[in-house]
Amino acid sequence: MQSNIFSGLFVGQNLVALKEVDSTNTFLKNLLSNSTPVPEGTVIMAESQYAGRGQQQNRWNSEPGKNLTFSLLLQPVFLSPLNQFYLTQVISLGVAETLNIIAGGGISIKWPNDIYYNDKKLGGILIENILQGSQIKYAVVGIGLNVNQQEFPQWVPNPVSLRQILHKDYDLRLLLSHLCSRIEGWYLRLKASKLADISAAYLALLYGYRQERSFRANGQEFIGTIAGVTQQGRLQVQQQGILQEYNFKEIEFLHQK
Ligand code: BTN
Repeated sequence: MQSNIFSGLFVGQNLVALKEVDSTNTFLKNLLSNSTPVPEGTVIMAESQYAGRGQQQNRWNSEPGKNLTFSLLLQPVFLSPLNQFYLTQVISLGVAETLNIIAGGGISIKWPNDIYYNDKKLGGILIENILQGSQIKYAVVGIGLNVNQQEFPQWVPNPVSLRQILHKDYDLRLLLSHLCSRIEGWYLRLKASKLADISAAYLALLYGYRQERSFRANGQEFIGTIAGVTQQGRLQVQQQGILQEYNFKEIEFLHQK
């Protein structure tokens, strides 16, 4: 563990680096269910995942040793489950801002929490909240970023890596330390209830915000404009003068105008 390179207060201070695991999210959830004491801010990273999980039951592809695949433990007991989308926003902001600095621009957050470079996917986030009564007892925040991978299998939709952007490798541990401190900064703003600041920053980085785009919803293709995101995380799309709201999985971006 190299806690000295982590400038934050707690995120990443306890770092567990694994060579191979099924999924860092599953590993961390198992630790929690075995009642092993795990300090908040613990990061489990793996060189290789053989059953990496993405959103919507998808697999997460990552070439061993080339990328960042890690899970972070947070305990947002102060956050009502009704407001859990704010957690999605602060994690996305921490990741997107870090990468925007490194890439020199071009990074956005594709609703709800894909990390994009122009029109390609640079990373993804899978947050699994463990509730107890009306509290979020644990949030297992899984982050997968394409860092030094040069080639991707055909089935991976739309990928890009930091190496393809920068034309050189990026040090994985250094990137992890930058991510941890940015995520921590945003998480502390959430803890301090700076909700309006969080939503404004999220909208400022939202992919396609206020732009005309093609979508598919309820089996129909249409042109619409993203007008915002509700507090609960529903996407608001203006189409023919009417504002519609969509949950995750109810709407799909079609990548041409
Ligand atoms: C997505 O589908 O975009 C979310 C991808 C999340 C992948 C990360 S890699 C580390 C953590 N462990 C997993 O099994 N998934 C997440």
